[in-house]
Amino acid sequence: MVGIDRGKLKALIEREKQRFVEEHPKSKDLFERAKKSMFGGVPMNWMIEWPGAFPLFAAQGKGATITDVDGHAYVDFCLGDTGAMFGHSPRETVQAATRQMRKGITMMLPTEDSIWVGEELARRFGVPYWQIAMTATDANRFALRMAREATGRRKVLVFNGCYHGTVDEALVRLVEGRVVPREGAMPPPVDPDVTTKVIEFNDLEALEEALAPRDVAAVLMEPALTNCGIVLPQDGYLDGVRTITRETGTVWIIDETHTWCAGPGGFTAAHGLRPDMLTLGKPVAGGIPSAAFGASQEIHDKTIANILADTTGVNGLGGTLTGNALALAAMRATLEKVITREAFDKMIPLATRWTKGVGRAIKDAGVPWHVVQLGARAEYRFREAPPKNGAEAIASKDAELDRYMHLYTLNRGILLTPFHNMALMSPATKRKDVDLHTKVFRESVQELVA
Ligand SMILES: Cc1ncc(COP(=O)(O)O)c(C=O)c1O
Repeated sequence: MVGIDRGKLKALIEREKQRFVEEHPKSKDLFERAKKSMFGGVPMNWMIEWPGAFPLFAAQGKGATITDVDGHAYVDFCLGDTGAMFGHSPRETVQAATRQMRKGITMMLPTEDSIWVGEELARRFGVPYWQIAMTATDANRFALRMAREATGRRKVLVFNGCYHGTVDEALVRLVEGRVVPREGAMPPPVDPDVTTKVIEFNDLEALEEALAPRDVAAVLMEPALTNCGIVLPQDGYLDGVRTITRETGTVWIIDETHTWCAGPGGFTAAHGLRPDMLTLGKPVAGGIPSAAFGASQEIHDKTIANILADTTGVNGLGGTLTGNALALAAMRATLEKVITREAFDKMIPLATRWTKGVGRAIKDAGVPWHVVQLGARAEYRFREAPPKNGAEAIASKDAELDRYMHLYTLNRGILLTPFHNMALMSPATKRKDVDLHTKVFRESVQELVA
């Protein structure tokens, strides 16, 4: 296996950084101006995480292409970090949203679209009752509240390496057996050791031990981890999670926000899973803010009394703009006409092509890396074998290599999500887009090891 010459890597990063600055004068000027009025010069702080000295300022996103203010066009494999997984501004979503905007955006009244959406989510994910949220973070926070209400327990359990949004209980890491706030997280209101148990993924014994005291309201998990690199469940693992959560009266919440890439009904339908609750968000309304959380008949029955009470407005679910008519019209159109089986039939083979191309380039260069596919999502990592849990995945993170790969591709017309080495395929992505990435990826690695 070929090692990485760190001196050379640093020099290559410097070269790419310089090229980036030279080729993006308008983005640079806008960033200088933005810094004077916005935290860090951006409207949302993740946007500073792009690999150049400043973020690109976008002029337009359409299908799988983004154009920046300097006139460069990019093949977009970031796709709004899943928010635009089905392409930027899908035509059917835009048409439905435009129609609804003329008929009332937010009315504090349900529209018929909401029933269609509830029925469709139930059909796809096998969970019968639904509420709308604004973001997947919200959906997770609301689902955890309902699980506490249903069980009368307080603690939650999540997995090392997880990310479920800015949910205080889940913004945590397992360090030397202790639950601590995640590095970089602003201080939580309560020590997470009090609210949360954290274990490693793919370890049923650890789960059994953690749930044995029967003080955990909910296990909140992605069925495959996606936020520390992709970590797939081992054979039988998720069946074991179902059995242990059922035996201990713990609510099993599956967060499908990212793993929806596995098919129209997410990883849950693709693998016949039977969670008690399910959360999703990001692409559900084609990029218009919206999310949803669903519950089983049992959870519904145990919590509905609170939801139907006079005090329902302060039960901790929802908000003024949540479930608005615009979001529901967009969700309906997106579910009906955009997030379809046909779309996945285009997206998944493209991800397979991407994975094979990257895999061949890794092998030819002799670097100890691997690439893994999860439906329409694929990701490479800087370790030889796929990790089996969050600790292994986190240990393989390499900020310098990340920076190099991301800058190299960006300077050659390709966007990858800044905090992942991950590519998402949309129905608008073309085989030639994938092949361009394969070529550029191969050249970047070859140059590094030459
Ligand atoms: C699995 C998962 N759940 C929830 C969220 C939160 O989504 P949002 O930031 O849209 O609230 C994310 C965000 O990346 C996520 O990856």
